[in-house]
Amino acid sequence: MTDAAIARAHTNIALVKYWGKRDAARFLPMNSSLSLTLDAFYTETKVTYDAARKADAFTLNAVPQAGPELAKLSAFLEKARALTGETRFASVESVNHVPTAAGLASSASAYAALAAAAVWAAGRELPPEALSRLARQGSGSASRSIFGGFARWARGERPDGEDSHGVPVAGPEAWPDVRMAVAILEPGPKAVASRDGMARTVATSIFYPAWAEAAEHDVAEAEAAIAARDLKALGRIAERSAMRMHATTWGADPPFTYFKPATLALIEAVAEARAAGLAAWATIDAGPNVKALTTAADAPALVERLKAVPGVLRVVLSGPGPGVARLRSIEPAGA
Ligand code: PMV
Repeated sequence: MTDAAIARAHTNIALVKYWGKRDAARFLPMNSSLSLTLDAFYTETKVTYDAARKADAFTLNAVPQAGPELAKLSAFLEKARALTGETRFASVESVNHVPTAAGLASSASAYAALAAAAVWAAGRELPPEALSRLARQGSGSASRSIFGGFARWARGERPDGEDSHGVPVAGPEAWPDVRMAVAILEPGPKAVASRDGMARTVATSIFYPAWAEAAEHDVAEAEAAIAARDLKALGRIAERSAMRMHATTWGADPPFTYFKPATLALIEAVAEARAAGLAAWATIDAGPNVKALTTAADAPALVERLKAVPGVLRVVLSGPGPGVARLRSIEPAGA
């Protein structure tokens, strides 16, 4: 007997970053974080439980996966099965709608879609907080992609992680004028994975304690800025959160950075756009690409400026996106 469900989840970009775990096994963060879910980038995932299966199977963009990729997926499905009581193995079909070579982390949308599809295929309906807790255990940032618009990942206090999950802050319709311009650089050598980068930083960076302390305040201030629809205040908090996160990597031992020369050129282009009167604030994740927070009105001029920076392949503009949703059919890879 087979049972299947399909989920679509959108990626999110943190405005106040998650950077560092207090419990790596349970994916519990040192600090709360806050993000904007984007409509332009998403993952669709179909989970089919099948009593006749002897093991899990996984295709990503129609390519069968094996080795560590399959093992990671299977380990996550084990957590979903433990939560739902499901006992059958699954075949998982996942399609990423993220521009090729974007160098964008797709793990947020991937684990949010997988968590929801794995629960729904087991015939269970769980509240979004429970889906978020499950998604968190695949990739921390995925806890926020269960929700649309602005979402906070509350760090929680409990050692078992029950209170560490996403919380909706303002839906995509609440502030439709917000835009994120994503400047994609030519692909270079693979950056240090976020998991490894944050672990090294927590263990060795002399700046880490200051980071964790400041981040908690930044989340509270960011929420106040969102409530007031004050993009200038939100942008300022977002830019300083990104810079502080990256400062911790320079203070690690051995030190490292996700910045490339073009990253700095883009940060400068964003500052120049702002000096010229445009709404523009930069944020950077565990890679060299730069995302800029802006408005619908200022986005076209900002995009032109970012495109002109040497090394930029393309700039994708996105508005606020929805939370995880159930689909009837999956779009084929490459559609
Ligand atoms: O969830 P992960 O392991 O991909 O880590 C995400 C880390 C950052 O993107 C740098 C920050 C964030 O909050 O998304």
